[in-house]
Amino acid sequence: MQNNVRPETMERITTPALAQAFIQEQLAALKAQVGNKKVLLALSGGVDSSVVAALLIKAIGQNLVCVHVNHGLLRKGEPEQVIQVFRNEMNANLIYVDAVDRFLDKLAGVSDPEQKRKIIGAEFIRVFEEEARKQEGIEFLAQGTIYPDILESGPVKAHHNVGGLPEDLKFELVEPLKFLFKDEVRVVGHELGLPDGMVYRQPFPGPGLGVRCVGAITRDRLEAVRESDAILREEFAKNGLEGKVWQYFTIVPDFKTVGVKDNKRCFEWPVVLRAVNTRDAMTATVEDVPFALLQHITQRITAEVPGVNRVLFDLTPKPTGTIEWE
Ligand code: XMP
Repeated sequence: MQNNVRPETMERITTPALAQAFIQEQLAALKAQVGNKKVLLALSGGVDSSVVAALLIKAIGQNLVCVHVNHGLLRKGEPEQVIQVFRNEMNANLIYVDAVDRFLDKLAGVSDPEQKRKIIGAEFIRVFEEEARKQEGIEFLAQGTIYPDILESGPVKAHHNVGGLPEDLKFELVEPLKFLFKDEVRVVGHELGLPDGMVYRQPFPGPGLGVRCVGAITRDRLEAVRESDAILREEFAKNGLEGKVWQYFTIVPDFKTVGVKDNKRCFEWPVVLRAVNTRDAMTATVEDVPFALLQHITQRITAEVPGVNRVLFDLTPKPTGTIEWE
């Protein structure tokens, strides 16, 4: 049975030197565990899977097979960034799976939030499984499990991003980050040369923009979520709020209100802005975003995002509101 308790003697990785020492130690351990065998990794582009990928690329190069599944619910520019960083810059063996139609077709007409989450999770496993079956000679599965995942889920539960592969696809697990906390993973990622935008990015839920396109997802409303989110992120970055505010995003509810555009009456969606701070996501406070910035973001979203005529700012702390809307 694998040891899942962080050694008491393990120093907290807070400096580049400590991160370098961790990296050297892990490279040796990974080479010893895997040898010249192949390893499969679901690479979402999130911090944890990206750091695992960067470590394994250093350790075993082309014997790491990364699978990036685009389920259509990623933020603007994310699939492109994964391809740019890992395939073009790090020369990774990366399989890009465009599963957008597959996911959106399955989700069509489904409005129940838990049902949406289930469909996204199950479909992800199915797509990943299909790719795994196409590969020959894979013996290991790498995962971006970090220490809080182990603390929260007990000793046996798999990392929340991947799990539930069928019995005949049982691989030996490779989990180089399993004793690290998130801040340590970020220091290691930075030392491995990953871009800041990837290493310091805000939390993003597994079901992605799917939980921010409230109710049954339609392609046009999903685009409104993606485009408004990109504008919000761009404006927060320009105005020094990136890295300061814990989580910020937009939501597009599934109702329309009347408005006026180009002197004509229009019936379009509202976009809701959410920006919160928290330590542990159990409670959260609302960021005091400057009013002029809110006005500027409103102006940009209503001018640039098709189908949107109104912007609202969610003033609700958690409790009573949750961070996400679904
Ligand atoms: P709530 O909305 O419950 O969110 O206040 C707390 C934190 O969890 C994230 N979140 C999720 N993350 N899968 C995830 O991986 C999910 O289904 C999910 N739902 C919420 C949310 O973004 C926030 O950081």
